[in-house]
Amino acid sequence: MTALLELDGLGFAWPGQPELLDIPHFRLQRGETLFLKGPSGSGKTTLLGLLGGVQKPQRGSIRLLGEDIAQLSSARRDHFRVDHTGYIFQQFNLLPFLSVRENVELPCHFSRSRARRAGERHGSVDQAAAVLLGHLGLGDAALLERRADSLSIGQQQRVAAARALIGQPELVIADEPTSALDADAREAFLQLLFAECREAGASLLFVSHDQSLAPLFDRSLSLADLNRAATAPGI
Ligand SMILES: Nc1ncnc2c1ncn2[C@@H]1O[C@H](COP(=O)(O)OP(=O)(O)OP(=O)(O)O)[C@@H](O)[C@H]1O
Ligand SMILES: [Mg+2]
Repeated sequence: MTALLELDGLGFAWPGQPELLDIPHFRLQRGETLFLKGPSGSGKTTLLGLLGGVQKPQRGSIRLLGEDIAQLSSARRDHFRVDHTGYIFQQFNLLPFLSVRENVELPCHFSRSRARRAGERHGSVDQAAAVLLGHLGLGDAALLERRADSLSIGQQQRVAAARALIGQPELVIADEPTSALDADAREAFLQLLFAECREAGASLLFVSHDQSLAPLFDRSLSLADLNRAATAPGI
C-alpha cells in the first residue's frame, strides 16, 4: 500500500503555550480507516487541523498525496484541502445563513474535481447532496432549503457529514462526528461513512471518545503513542 498522508518531524504549539505535539512520524495508507483516541485536551483536534491543512506546524512536513501542505501558502493550502479532504469539524462549522443544501454543496463550489465527481456519481451536484442527506435521514425537500442554524444540533452534525462526503475526497477527517447523534442516526451515519469511503477508495481518520466504535476500523491508535510531547506537565 502507498501512503496517502505522511508526517515527519512535526512540532506544533499554540501561541504562548508549550509544545503540544511532537510527532516524529505518522502515516496513513490509501484506503485505510483509522480510529484515533486520547483524553480531552490532549491535542486530537489540533492534530486533525494540521493534517487537514487548517493550521500550519512550526516544524516538520505533512505530505498529502505527495504534496507538503506545510509548505503551501494559506490560499493554496485551502484550495488543496477542499480538493482532497472532507472534514467534519467537531463544532461542525456550517455557514448559518446558508441553506442545508448550500452548505452541503459548498465544497463543489470551491473544487472543480469534487463537483465533477459528484456529478459523475449522482447526475448533478444537487442530486448528490439530496442522496447523501437522504441516507442520513434528512431527505425532506423542505428541510433542504432551511437555514442551517434553524436545525437541531444532531441534524447540523449530519449536514456537516454530508458536506464532508460530497464529491468523494481522498481523505475524510471526522472529529467526534457522532457526538450529537442518537443510536439510529449514528448507525446510519457510520454505514454511509464506511460505504462512501470504500466506494471512493478514501482513507478515514476518525476521532472519538466512543471506544465501542474502534473494532470497526482497520487500525486504532492513541495520540499518546504518536506524540512525544504527551508526557509534558499539564497534559
Ligand atoms: N485555537 C486555539 N488557541 C489556543 N489554544 C488552543 C486552541 N485550540 C486548542 N487549544 C489548546 O490545545 C490543547 C489541545 O486542544 P484540542 O482541542 O486539540 O484537544 P482535543 O484532544 O481535541 O480535546 P477534546 O477531546 O476535548 O475535543 C488544549 O490545551 C487547548 O486549550
Ligand atoms: Mg477535540
